[in-house]
Amino acid sequence: MAFEAQERAPAKLNLFLDVLGRRSDGFHDLETLFVSLDLADDLHVRVSGGGSALTLDVVGNDTLAAGEENLVLKAWRLATEDLPRRASAAFQLVKRIPVGAGLGGGSSDAAAALRLARTWRGETDRPLHELALALGSDVPFLLEGGAAIGRGRGEALTRLAPPPALEVVLCLQPYGCSTRAVFAEVVRGLRRPAPGTLTRAIQALEAGDAATLRTVHHNSLALPAMRATPRLLRAASAIERRLGRAPCLSGSGSTLYDIPDPGTAEAVVEALAGLPGTRRIVRMRAPGDGAHRA
Ligand code: C5P
Repeated sequence: MAFEAQERAPAKLNLFLDVLGRRSDGFHDLETLFVSLDLADDLHVRVSGGGSALTLDVVGNDTLAAGEENLVLKAWRLATEDLPRRASAAFQLVKRIPVGAGLGGGSSDAAAALRLARTWRGETDRPLHELALALGSDVPFLLEGGAAIGRGRGEALTRLAPPPALEVVLCLQPYGCSTRAVFAEVVRGLRRPAPGTLTRAIQALEAGDAATLRTVHHNSLALPAMRATPRLLRAASAIERRLGRAPCLSGSGSTLYDIPDPGTAEAVVEALAGLPGTRRIVRMRAPGDGAHRA
């Protein structure tokens, strides 16, 4: 009998990201503050017995590669390769999270595929953390989403209480950033935050204090991202001129964002009218009730 199921794959935002140093395995140790957003892809699967074909149909993004290397198919293979039974899986991915934007879209799709595989296997207690990390540094957080501190590569998680549904204005750029290329620029130097900044950011998040959250925002990858992609620096400068405050950066870019005071998100969007790219108001909350449990 065929099995069908669907999972939401919410985007993430980094409210704080400090790069602590390079490790012997080539990755960097981080300290980051993640929150989920109510901007999500949808991943649907239909599994049928016989054959072992894996297919992926992407809706809403013409440029995204739907082949073997797509993280959805990689995640499914990883989560089912130990099974003796053969099955074909046909995925449909409705893409709303921009690609290469530092919003964790591909990673969240992979996390959703792992959850689907677990549901299909009927093993609700099966831990997915290790498989998730094998797929990418942000995938473990995206298994559950919500709000969390990430250490190590981002996978050593301390979960926080669900955050208040603060609004965020995403400034989506008409180009993406390569995470690998941005980390490669880290050797040329980093800015580090003042001690205690992460604690202040967590307190501001818990209090729903938009003004403090944007003033304590730090992202060590901002300079490397702007060296790797100079037009990101021009975009950030243009936003700062319009708003009178510097935008924040999510992950390794390219998404710049502002955390407006309550009730002012539309005015912020208007103030940014005419700049390249698009603006989008979202909330710090996963779609639905905010809970997409792993
Ligand atoms: O883990 P993920 O696939 O997202 O990482 C993409 C690239 O970003 C890695 O190959 C590595 O170059 C860099 N990276 C890093 N340290 C991290 C996360 C990513 O150096 N903590």
